[in-house]
Amino acid sequence: MKSLNNYLVTTAVLKSRPLFSGQLEYFLHAGIVLLVLCSSVTGVQAQDQNNPFAWAYPPRQSDDAPAPTTFDDTPHRMPGSEREYVFSDIGRYSPADWHPESHPPMPPIVAEGREPVQACAFCHLANGQGKPENAGLAGLPAVYIVQQMKDFAAGLRNTSDPTLTTVANMLPFSVNATEAEMLEAANYFASVTPRKWITVVEAETVPGTYIASWLYVAHEDGRTEPLGQRILEMPMDFERTEWRDDSSGFIAYVPPGSLARGEALARSGGDGRTLPCSSCHGDDLKGLGPVPGIAGRSPSYLVRQIYDFQTGSRRGLWSPLMLGVVENLTTAEVIDLVAWVSSLDP
Ligand code: HEC
Ligand code: HEC
Repeated sequence: MKSLNNYLVTTAVLKSRPLFSGQLEYFLHAGIVLLVLCSSVTGVQAQDQNNPFAWAYPPRQSDDAPAPTTFDDTPHRMPGSEREYVFSDIGRYSPADWHPESHPPMPPIVAEGREPVQACAFCHLANGQGKPENAGLAGLPAVYIVQQMKDFAAGLRNTSDPTLTTVANMLPFSVNATEAEMLEAANYFASVTPRKWITVVEAETVPGTYIASWLYVAHEDGRTEPLGQRILEMPMDFERTEWRDDSSGFIAYVPPGSLARGEALARSGGDGRTLPCSSCHGDDLKGLGPVPGIAGRSPSYLVRQIYDFQTGSRRGLWSPLMLGVVENLTTAEVIDLVAWVSSLDP
């Protein structure tokens, strides 16, 4: 019954105060309850050697990847942008900002970083929309972002599968960023309005792919393959994504029927198999108080988080609230859920 208790307590906490007023007090109050909940979590499960979601943890490059596309030093433009960059301009401490008018001014830690903390925009993009191998941050609650940085720094947020080396890359930033920098970055990303970023399509047959820069890319010869029980998330345009164009999104192929099944399960909780997502993530799953929005976010990212909660690799201060949600879910149910959640407007 632990999960139900968690659920009731949270719901009570979330409902006990008006949102967005007296926030500090509200979060302190929630924090105390969450701390109590945390102390009831026992042990960490061993890492799963047979990761059923291995497709969501791609390595940097697959063996069949062609020689890297030449990202040369001729000046490039991106659609709808006045700016011009050469590829070597795009660095860990100076990522491109193609569409400065589409987001608020970035604080220095986001735009440039500071040795050894790389610019957040290098991976999460200037407008925080993110990529499948990292995370979308646009519109997340600032307190949530800060808490995640602290969970990373405390070693409470790891990856269930270290083939995705980008997660390890993130860890040192959480340790080395100052409290003030974390807050600046958090306030910035919280202030950006998330936009529709992923087009979700049900399909039985999908492009045959290789992996480059942790991204799935279609082979040029147009080969296809069965999707099977996975989600295939790909950039709409690999080159634009590599150039850090934060206006070029992603397409995600999901199994036929998954959207309707996922919606039914997410809304009803499936007769106790899980809990209705809206009770904590808000009616439209765009977030509620300190609980992050999940609507319209990368399905690969969402799957990894659910699996990381299941294996105990993610066990941050607030993670116990997700245990009752994930503990009984099958692989197929997780895929259905995130297929639907990622198809929603963010
Ligand atoms: C080298 C790439 C990289 C850089 C630079 C980077 N991150 Fe990350 N970030 C990641 C990856 C990878 C993840 C985790 C994905 C996962 O868990 O599967 C992540 C996750 C996060 C999350 C968790 C999001 C969530 O919804 O829980 C936050 C918050 C975050 N990063 C903040 C930052 C901030 C702030 C900066 C700048 C100080 C930054 N990151 C710089 C790669 C990066
Ligand atoms: C009892 C409250 C509760 C319910 C119900 C709930 N969640 Fe959550 N969820 C949370 C909290 C709190 C977090 C943040 C956890 C943390 O900080 O580690 C979270 C985080 C997540 C994350 C990671 C988000 C990120 O940015 O990294 C995913 C994915 C998620 N929930 C999916 C779901 C889905 C799908 C459902 C419904 C099937 C659901 N949740 C139902 C409370 C809940």
